[in-house]
Amino acid sequence: MKRVIPAAGIILAAAVAVTAWQGTSGKRNQRAHDERVARGNYLVSSIGCSDCHTPKKMGPEGPEVDMTRLLSGHPEGTELPDPPAAVGPWMASASWDMTAWAGPWGISFAANLTPDQNTGLGIWTEDMFLNAIRKGRHMGVSRPILPPMPWQVFRNFTDEDLKAIFAYLRSVPPVHNRVPEPVEPQVMAAN
Ligand code: HEC
Repeated sequence: MKRVIPAAGIILAAAVAVTAWQGTSGKRNQRAHDERVARGNYLVSSIGCSDCHTPKKMGPEGPEVDMTRLLSGHPEGTELPDPPAAVGPWMASASWDMTAWAGPWGISFAANLTPDQNTGLGIWTEDMFLNAIRKGRHMGVSRPILPPMPWQVFRNFTDEDLKAIFAYLRSVPPVHNRVPEPVEPQVMAAN
């Protein structure tokens, strides 16, 4: 009995120490994650992803970012007339909220970057995000990402910055908004 009690005591002490250690490393991971999200927030807000990816509302000084729909992309169900024909050196046109763009590539609609499971980046992995930005391919693998999404510039980010942007995008409130598929130039011309 005398031998058993100290042994149990040692095991208990060890278990307490391990739990405490896990607690500190958990806190350290949490802090690293929070710092990454903060860096991502800084990058996304200073680069201006919202210019194209956040719907706008009309304020006293013109269109302003609608924070209740932060980064949720071109609003589904928006009725848009056909874009004006390109004339002379004028090549592209944008909707008033800059979420829809027409040009020689057809019409593109800014994507929903919120973590919504069905309509946003919910199912995306960090690798898919890095590949999309680096290769300019939808979801990292399929069709080319259309203008004016400046992936050719954003691919110069370091991996660490792209991961920070992705971590931040995962932290914003999910918004259910199914952005339409792009319209091809032929379809545009037929209308
Ligand atoms: C000048 C407008 C513009 C800006 C600024 C912009 N985007 Fe985009 N983005 C678009 C458009 C338009 C699309 C849709 C393109 C398409 O359908 O091919 C898009 C698509 C995307 C996609 C989806 C790619 C895919 O696989 O379908 C991601 C991710 C993305 N943008 C991230 C960002 C991030 C992050 C920023 C800021 C660092 C940003 N964008 C800034 C216009 C923009």
